[in-house]
Amino acid sequence: MARHQLRSTLRACIRGGVALSVAALLANAARAQDAPAATGIEHGRYLAIAGDCVACHTAPGGKPFAGGLDLKTPFGVITASNITSDKETGIGSWTFQQFDAAVRHGKGPSGNLYPAMPYTAYVKMTDADMADLWAYIRTVPPVSQKVVENKLPFPYNIRAALVVWNALFFDRTPFTPDSTRSAAVNRGAYLVEALEHCGICHTPKNALGHDSSATYQGTSLQGWHAPDLTNNDHTGLGTWSAEDIVTYLRSGTNRHTASSGPMTEVIVNSTQHLTDADLHAIAAYFKALPARTVDVPPPLPATNAQMVAGRREFLVQCSACHTSSGQGVANMIPTLQGNPAINAKSPDSLLNILLAGTTGPATAANPTGAGMPGFAWKLHDDQIANVLTYIRNSQGNAAPAVSAADVAKARKALGAQQVVWH
Ligand code: HEC
Ligand code: HEC
Ligand code: HEC
Repeated sequence: MARHQLRSTLRACIRGGVALSVAALLANAARAQDAPAATGIEHGRYLAIAGDCVACHTAPGGKPFAGGLDLKTPFGVITASNITSDKETGIGSWTFQQFDAAVRHGKGPSGNLYPAMPYTAYVKMTDADMADLWAYIRTVPPVSQKVVENKLPFPYNIRAALVVWNALFFDRTPFTPDSTRSAAVNRGAYLVEALEHCGICHTPKNALGHDSSATYQGTSLQGWHAPDLTNNDHTGLGTWSAEDIVTYLRSGTNRHTASSGPMTEVIVNSTQHLTDADLHAIAAYFKALPARTVDVPPPLPATNAQMVAGRREFLVQCSACHTSSGQGVANMIPTLQGNPAINAKSPDSLLNILLAGTTGPATAANPTGAGMPGFAWKLHDDQIANVLTYIRNSQGNAAPAVSAADVAKARKALGAQQVVWH
């Protein structure tokens, strides 16, 4: 119980004429510290959602927080731990200090944790939030599941080597609000930098897997491209209003696009559950990022051979849904016109969507997300290359051409099928 609460309780007692000894109050306060207040647990649950702990700490089809999900990093596979309250295989016997050391400082019982666990972001969490998060995590029902965490090849399997990584890259500066920014932008910065860790996917990494200085400028991961989130009109969020960002993070779709792949998971597990005020804070944070100028390449001419063939393919295969102008159907079939994700230098997400198809996000705000079928079985590598080159260089877009070799490579990496129908 905080001191001011104690004082106001005392005052209330005196006003009500109830004689309560200070000693009894102090005893109550001590008990309250042993068993965290329900509001602390509830707030901790919200923080776990904002930090998206469940996304990594749950195996496909597995129990929440029981671990076992393999994270593919450039150095090999790291498996997320069981963080349920099971005493043998989870963290049920841990103290707050041990939990804090792992979550904010990357120190586990058997040495340094791999930065695949975003302690580099969580280090910015406040002490009070950390206490509430722990109060909630302790209530997660025990699940007995032994997780072998470290399957990395030599030399990456040596946890001690991470001392060097931490010395080079681990910035332990706590979050400090910037007095030149509005309260909303500061709240957004806290949510994005300390909890949601959007940069883990959207910021390009250096050779040792740490964020480069190109913050939020977009990068590829696991067969997807997480687009540029900076304020520029070509590849970034320059044309998106704050309200567009809010709608996207709440429902998975807006007037510009619909989410797919890893971003759908972020929206379904995490952002759709944030309060309206917090979503607006995140949007305010991104809209306050400095505008960035990017080189816009001239679009390929309509007479280019790939463009001619691609346009034909588009009219036959795609226009029934996306319409011949590429405008689509509001809140159902995303528009392809002036679409920053299509303008991204890397076509990785587009290759993924075209080969494997995509099911739209099913969120509370948009319960029946529309889907797009995959074309791997139907279109040859050159046909997919042509249609992607066409949508990347028409309808207000401009981006490098896609080659049949790019498609062949993605087909193999994604394990997508070969053409079966002609
Ligand atoms: C991006 C994926 C990811 C997210 C998000 C994530 N974790 Fe982790 N976490 C991991 C991985 C991977 C490990 C194992 C790292 C290792 O073995 O070095 C881990 C390890 C841990 C450990 C150490 C467990 C042990 O037995 O050593 C704790 C505690 C933990 N995470 C708590 C959390 C909490 C709480 C959150 C949310 C606030 C969270 N994690 C979010 C990936 C993640
Ligand atoms: C696990 C990786 C991952 C995390 C974490 C993540 N994103 Fe994404 N995001 C992606 C990928 C991949 C895409 C591209 C797929 C798509 O268009 O849906 C994407 C797409 C987007 C888009 C659409 C951009 C466009 O031009 O179409 C926005 C906006 C976005 N993310 C914002 C965020 C914000 C804000 C956060 C933090 C709250 C976040 N993302 C966290 C991977 C991630
Ligand atoms: C049956 C209807 C349908 C057909 C046919 C179709 N699409 Fe789609 N497409 C969709 C839907 C619905 C989405 C949004 C899916 C989601 O929510 O993830 C989508 C998404 C996309 C996206 C991602 C847009 C973004 O903003 O992230 C691209 C690119 C795309 N389609 C291109 C194509 C191309 C090229 C073809 C033809 C080869 C095609 N589509 C055929 C329905 C269709």
